This record gives sequence, structure tokens and C-alpha cells, in this order.
Amino acid sequence: MPQQPHGPLRSFGRIKARPIKSRQASLLKTLLPTIALDLSQPIDLLALKPDATEVWLEIGFGGGEHLATQAERRPDVLALGAEPFLNGVASALRHIEAAALTNVRLHAGDARDLLAALPKACLDRAFILFPDPWPKLRHHKRRLIQPDVVAELARVLKPFGRLRFATDWANYADWTLERLTGASALVWTAQRADDWRLAPNDHAPTRYEAKKLGDIAPVYLEFERAPEAG
Ligand SMILES: C[S@@+](CC[C@H](N)C(=O)[O-])C[C@H]1O[C@@H](n2cnc3c(N)ncnc32)[C@H](O)[C@@H]1O
Repeated sequence: MPQQPHGPLRSFGRIKARPIKSRQASLLKTLLPTIALDLSQPIDLLALKPDATEVWLEIGFGGGEHLATQAERRPDVLALGAEPFLNGVASALRHIEAAALTNVRLHAGDARDLLAALPKACLDRAFILFPDPWPKLRHHKRRLIQPDVVAELARVLKPFGRLRFATDWANYADWTLERLTGASALVWTAQRADDWRLAPNDHAPTRYEAKKLGDIAPVYLEFERAPEAG
């Protein structure tokens, strides 16, 4: 078995499902190579978009609706996305093409590899929206939110940079709060229940969210990267 740098456990399910429609298949060949991130060396974000005012990252963007909507709303932002599910990447390319977006860069693979290639304190915002819930106890170890990923998020977020995590699974919300607030570098910003019960004003609904497969109404947890002590 080939070694994986972040351990053998996959946090995602399928990497390919139904046949990819021909327009999307052609975008995988033409558009993706022009906007794919090169992880063979540390990423130079400034070179990707020299006039970017902020850098955002979406982990597990699924069909890419949220990523494309945010990138369209904020053309000044360099929007990075990681997703190993090829049908999702193909769908995202369609959104990127339709809106003629020039500020999106993708990694068609595991976000943990992208995180490892990012410099320290480079992200203004990160989004993990409705990650695979892995609801069975024996599968919890597959959840994306694990100590190594939490440590990487804390490393790549700028001081006061924000992470938005959404889920509609009660146990995954508790799991994440425990692991993120346990890492002193990330502070949960909620002041009142509506802060997690209501979708934030700038949220763009996702495809998975619309399916309502979880056991609770969605919760939206916002965390802020504490500045370095000392
Ligand atoms: C339940 S889906 C939600 C997709 C999308 N965020 C939405 O709300 O519609 C979770 C997604 O996370 C992706 N994913 C899981 N592990 C990942 C990883 N290590 N890196 C990047 N994406 C991952 C899966 O492939 C899947 O598309």
C-alpha cells in the first residue's frame, strides 16, 4: 500500500460517482489545469493574485456552489478550494465558467495536502460546510476534524482570521466544539443562540445542506484565530 503523508484514513467517501457530463468532462481537461494549485512546492499566494485583498479557503466544497457564490460576490478575494470528489470538482468548474470567475484556484484532492503546502498565517477565512458526518461511532475517526487538521487550521489562519464550520449532525457539532475550543488558538465567537442557529448573513446555502439529512437543524459555528501570545 502506498504511504499517505497524513495517515491511512480517508475522511471522504466516493471520489467518482455517476458519469461526468461531457461539458464538465471537457472543463476538467481545459479549465482545471489552468486553475489547479501546484502542491509540489510551497504555494506563493501573492503570485496567484497579486491584488488580492484577502485569501479564503473552502474545504470539501462539494458541487462548488458556495465557493463560486462567495468568489463572485468578492472578486477582490483569492478563493481556494479543495475537494477530492471528481464529480464535485467538475460541477464547480461549470459554476466558475458560468460566472467567468478568475479569482478561484482548486486542489482536486485531499485538503490536508493543500493545508500542508500553505504558508503560516495566510488565510483570512476558512469554510468547512457540512463535512461528511460519519455518524457511526466506529467511523468517527474518519471525521475531518481531528487534532492534526485543527493544528493546521490554527497554523494557516491569520491572527483574527475566521473559520466557519456548519453541520446538521448534533454529535458532529459537539465533537467540533470540543476539539476546536480545546485548541486555545481558536475561539468560538458565539454570544447568543441565534449566532449558531441562524445562517450568517453572508452564508450561501449548499447542496448538502438542502438535503436535510442530519438529526438537527443546521448549526453555524464561527471561530476566530487568537493572536499569538507574547
Ligand atoms: C457531505 S459533503 C458536503 C459538500 C458541500 N460542502 C455541501 O455542503 O454541499 C462533504 C464533502 O467533503 C469532501 N471531503 C471529505 N474529506 C475531505 C478532505 N480531506 N479534503 C477535502 N474535501 C473532503 C467530500 O468529498 C464531500 O464532497
